Amino acid sequence: MILINDFKAEPEELRVAELTAMERVLRSGWYVLGNELQTFEQAWARRCGVANAVGVGNGMDAIEIGLRGLDIGPGDEVITTPMTAFATVLAIIRAGAIPVLADIDPDTALLDPASVERCISSKTKAVLLVHLYGQVREMESWVAFCQRHGIVLLEDCAQAHLAQWNGKTAGSFGIFGAYSFYPTKNLGALGDGGALICEDTELAQRAAVLRNYGQSVRYQHPTLGLNSRLDELQAALLLTRLEWLEDFTERRRQIAGAYHAGIANSAVRLLAAPMQAHSHVHHLFVVLSRQRDRLAQHLKETGVQTLVHYPVPIHMQPPCIELHRDPNGLRSAEQHAAQCLSIPCHPQMSDADAAKVIESINAFK
Ligand SMILES: Cc1ncc(COP(=O)(O)O)c(C=O)c1O
Repeated sequence: MILINDFKAEPEELRVAELTAMERVLRSGWYVLGNELQTFEQAWARRCGVANAVGVGNGMDAIEIGLRGLDIGPGDEVITTPMTAFATVLAIIRAGAIPVLADIDPDTALLDPASVERCISSKTKAVLLVHLYGQVREMESWVAFCQRHGIVLLEDCAQAHLAQWNGKTAGSFGIFGAYSFYPTKNLGALGDGGALICEDTELAQRAAVLRNYGQSVRYQHPTLGLNSRLDELQAALLLTRLEWLEDFTERRRQIAGAYHAGIANSAVRLLAAPMQAHSHVHHLFVVLSRQRDRLAQHLKETGVQTLVHYPVPIHMQPPCIELHRDPNGLRSAEQHAAQCLSIPCHPQMSDADAAKVIESINAFK
C-alpha cells in the first residue's frame, strides 16, 4: 500500500540524528523552557525571515495566543475559511472572538477576496488566511486588502512550512504566522508542537507570557494565560528535522510535478498549479472528482491510500452551524468538501510509487 504518510520509511541517518538529539535532552536534565527551545526558536525565526519565534504547545494554541496577544477577543470578528482544520476556527472561538466564514476560490481552495469583502463589518478586526495544502498566493494583494480596510492580516501556516511568495516566507506577511509541528506536518515533531512567528518583539514577549500561565517573571502573573509550551525534547527533534526540511520539500515538489504532468482523466480535476517555484510546499496533494468516494475505493483496491481534507466544511459542523458567513453562501467550499481527495505526496515516495498513483488514477472509469 502506498501510504499518505510513511514515517517508518524515513532515512536511517535521520533516525540516528533524532536519537542523538533525544539523548542530549535526556542527559541535560532540563526538559521544559530551556536551551533547545531557545536554539530552535532562533533557527525557526531566521528561516522564516522574521525577528521572533515563540514555541508553543500546538498550532491551535499558536493562533489563540497570537489573537490574545493582539487583544482580539470578545466583540471582535475574524474572517477566515470554512475549508480548513477545525482548529483554525476553534482557536478564534477560544480567544473569545467571533469567526466569520468567507467562501473559497474553487481553483485553489483558498479564500476568495470578493467573498471576504462581503464579510467585512464594523466589528471586523482581522483576516486569518489559511495557506491550505501548502500554497501561498497573491500575498501583496492580501496585505493591500487589509490595509484598505484598516484590519490586520494573520496567517495560519500549519500546512505551509517555508512556502514563499516573491521571496518572502509564509507567516512573515501578516502581524503573526501560526505554525503547527504536529507529526504529519512538513516539519513535524514526534508529538504536538507549534510556534508563533512575528516581527513585533512586544507581541512575541506577550506570547511568551501567555504560553506560560500569563507569568512574566517567576510567580508573577499580570495576565491569565495557558499552559502551552514546546518542550525541550520536541524542540531538539525539530532542530534535527529542520536540517532535512528543504530536501523533503523538494521531493514533495517532484512528486507533485509528476502528478501535474501525468494525471489525465476527464473524471478527475486538479487544483491550479503553483504560481511560483517556491509558492507551494505540497503538504497535501488534492484532486477533485464528482465520484470522489468511488475514486477513493478504486485507489484503495489498487494499493493507494487516500484521505479527505476536509469532508465537512466548518459551517456544517454542529457547534458552528450558526456562525456568521458570506451572505451569498459558501457554495464553493461545500462543493470542494464533496469532491476533494488527498492522494499520497510525501518525501519517502519513490518515482515508481508516484507512477503507480498516476496509473491508478488514469485507469479510473
Ligand atoms: C490549517 C491548520 N490549522 C491549524 C492546525 C492545528 O494545529 P495543531 O494540530 O498543532 O493544533 C492544523 C493541524 O491540524 C491545520 O492543518
